[in-house]
Amino acid sequence: MELFDVYPLFNITPVKAEGCYVWDDKGNKYLDLYGGHAVISVGHSHPHYIEKIEQQLESIGFYSNSVIIPQQKELAEKLGKMSGYDDYQLFLCNSGAEANENAIKLASFVTGRKKIVSFKNCFHGRTSAAVAVTDNPKIVAPVNQTENAVILPYENLDELQKALSTKEIAAVIIEGIQGIGGIHVPSSIFLNQVAALCKTHGTLLILDEIQSGYGRSGKFFAHQYSGITPDVITTAKGMGNGFPVGGVMIAPSIKPWYGMLGTTFGGNYLACAASIAVLDIMKNENLVENAAKVGQFLISRLNENEQIKEVRGKGLMIGIEFDFPIKEIRQQLLFEHKIFTGVSGTNIIRLLPSLTLSMEQAVYFMEKFEQVLSSNLVQTN
Ligand SMILES: Cc1ncc(COP(=O)(O)O)c(C=O)c1O
Repeated sequence: MELFDVYPLFNITPVKAEGCYVWDDKGNKYLDLYGGHAVISVGHSHPHYIEKIEQQLESIGFYSNSVIIPQQKELAEKLGKMSGYDDYQLFLCNSGAEANENAIKLASFVTGRKKIVSFKNCFHGRTSAAVAVTDNPKIVAPVNQTENAVILPYENLDELQKALSTKEIAAVIIEGIQGIGGIHVPSSIFLNQVAALCKTHGTLLILDEIQSGYGRSGKFFAHQYSGITPDVITTAKGMGNGFPVGGVMIAPSIKPWYGMLGTTFGGNYLACAASIAVLDIMKNENLVENAAKVGQFLISRLNENEQIKEVRGKGLMIGIEFDFPIKEIRQQLLFEHKIFTGVSGTNIIRLLPSLTLSMEQAVYFMEKFEQVLSSNLVQTN
């Protein structure tokens, strides 16, 4: 059987990884500034992470959500404490899309309404409701198309006010920092107004922190720069450092009933062990603070470069926009300098490294990046 060919691939086969480095089958060592799409939070193959998963597997690997799984409680407690949302409730699932799907469903149950507002350039996943509110018609199949998805211009309060005053909107969903759309940080004023409008009109506010959460922005969640308190927060990616896990954090005012949400694999022992290990490592190694510090260094050094049109982001979630296509630059970084980076559209490079990225590694990246940029300057002159 052949693989269903939906991914354009680099001709690279990673076989080993450690910290911020990945090795391919030919022995080449790469500096990973992409983290497998913002997934690697505490570094590849961290010894504590491996130990926790191995130990768990040796005792019990799986049972369904019909029995007591103490690791779920431990995870909820640790996540509540570290994120500052001690009084929230946690529903565990398996991916980002599934977290948003459940958040949207929850908002619809709670409000009795059908419509969801999202914003231009957003990405919320590929399952039915999540993809319906995603601003990319190419990935919305006819079965996903619905008038219940209302995609509004970013940072436009008039349009939002108009939509919410219909009292038909169950939830507004917004990324803590827009990721796939090109690293756009919502202004604090906008987020505060969104939160206030939601409150006024009985609409729930869902913060999609799947890419921007778990310390990546230099705070536990990116929306915490604005001081707002969402009704629902969704997480995935960095939560399991590569183990598939997603979470929906739910305000105490929202009451569950048996059967309201459910999943076979969500909250399984191994996912919990991986996620607990991630939080332990984040705490012990002060990784949120490290993301803030190293990110600040990268952002200010990038801002000095005149070839760059704009640098956006916070912490270790950085978008570098050029006014020309960056394919060549990215390929040079990867194949000549052995550095993985991400992309958004044609002109934006995205940096989403592990939160363990050191200052030395950041300096190394900047030296190579500046070298590539100046060689491209010579070519274009
Ligand atoms: C902001 C955001 N939401 C949701 C998702 C979907 O997550 P998953 O691919 O785990 O379903 C992503 C994935 O890139 C994302 O960046």
